[in-house]
Amino acid sequence: MPLKYVSLVTLAVQNAALSIVMHYSRVSTPAAQAYSPASAVLLNELLKGSISFVIAFLRVADASDASGRGVWGWWASLRRVCREIFSPDCWKLSIPALLYVVQNSLQFVAISNLPVATFQVTYQMKILTTAAFSVMLLRRKLSSTKWLSLFFLAIGVGIVQIQSSSTSHVPARQNMPVGSAHESAPLHIHIMSPLKGFGAVTAACFTSGLAGVYFEMVLKNSKADLWVRNVQLSLFSLIPAVLPVFWESSDPRYYQAGLISGILRNFGGWAWATVAVQVLGGLITAIVIKYSDNILKGFATSLSIVLSFLASVALFGFRITPSFVIGSTTVLVATWMYNQPPGQELVAITGAIPV
Ligand code: C5P
Repeated sequence: MPLKYVSLVTLAVQNAALSIVMHYSRVSTPAAQAYSPASAVLLNELLKGSISFVIAFLRVADASDASGRGVWGWWASLRRVCREIFSPDCWKLSIPALLYVVQNSLQFVAISNLPVATFQVTYQMKILTTAAFSVMLLRRKLSSTKWLSLFFLAIGVGIVQIQSSSTSHVPARQNMPVGSAHESAPLHIHIMSPLKGFGAVTAACFTSGLAGVYFEMVLKNSKADLWVRNVQLSLFSLIPAVLPVFWESSDPRYYQAGLISGILRNFGGWAWATVAVQVLGGLITAIVIKYSDNILKGFATSLSIVLSFLASVALFGFRITPSFVIGSTTVLVATWMYNQPPGQELVAITGAIPV
């Protein structure tokens, strides 16, 4: 199977896995034993940046046949990759970097306050914001079918929101894995606030759209290697990611044992799994941008809705309501319609065969 399809299927599975693992990592412990989302965002950027740096370095070394030239070959490659990373235009990545850090932090608020499946469906609104920013910043023109599908998307998300908001302050026990030890735990573990969750997910959709379009603009207007751009993105992300960690470090309850153990406080298996799946997602997103296109990326995301929905039913005892099914189906159909290539759009709406 070509790398293009492998990366798309992996992105769909990663998307579904992230919302499930992140949600469980947040709701399965009492607030006093929760890990810090700020630490998770920082670790994500550190790991993603390091992996991207190794890939960028190996690519440069391979291109200049460093292994055949011994230590000096490797040293020359290291200097070259560093020159590329600290190129005069690297500052352009500071804007998407800041936006992605905000987005990754908002994701934690959203997923802690919404059921997994509801989060996934509502997060599809990022297609709407991406379209709006593409029209505004990239001067892209959208066909009437695309506008219509965006309208359906908003309706679908609205239907899912109405059903979820009506059950305000859902106890998170409803979202514990079926048969888990936590299922019988007292209700005070974690109280979800759908309004807060929807606010966070809406804001995350805006940062996702703006950051994605901005990253696309930077990539298409230069010849720099994708992995070098990824390192630049992570480097600039470190500044906004480290600030909340320093802010938290003023709390002597956590940081008296030292900075590293303060950052890693309450970091159990689920927290590490969340960071690992996030890192994987960032890397696959980069590969999908390079080897595939946004049309197929949209399909991967909508496939992940179905996957996380099925997993929510099996793992968290998520209750299927008619409005959830109608809302999710509308979102899926709208996503599919939006992703129809030009010329196929009429077929998408009418089902007619073009003559
Ligand atoms: O949902 P969306 O596609 O906007 O999410 C993009 C995610 O991928 C963010 O978490 C962002 O940090 C990450 N990303 C990345 N490297 C890129 C582009 C996105 O790590 N080049």
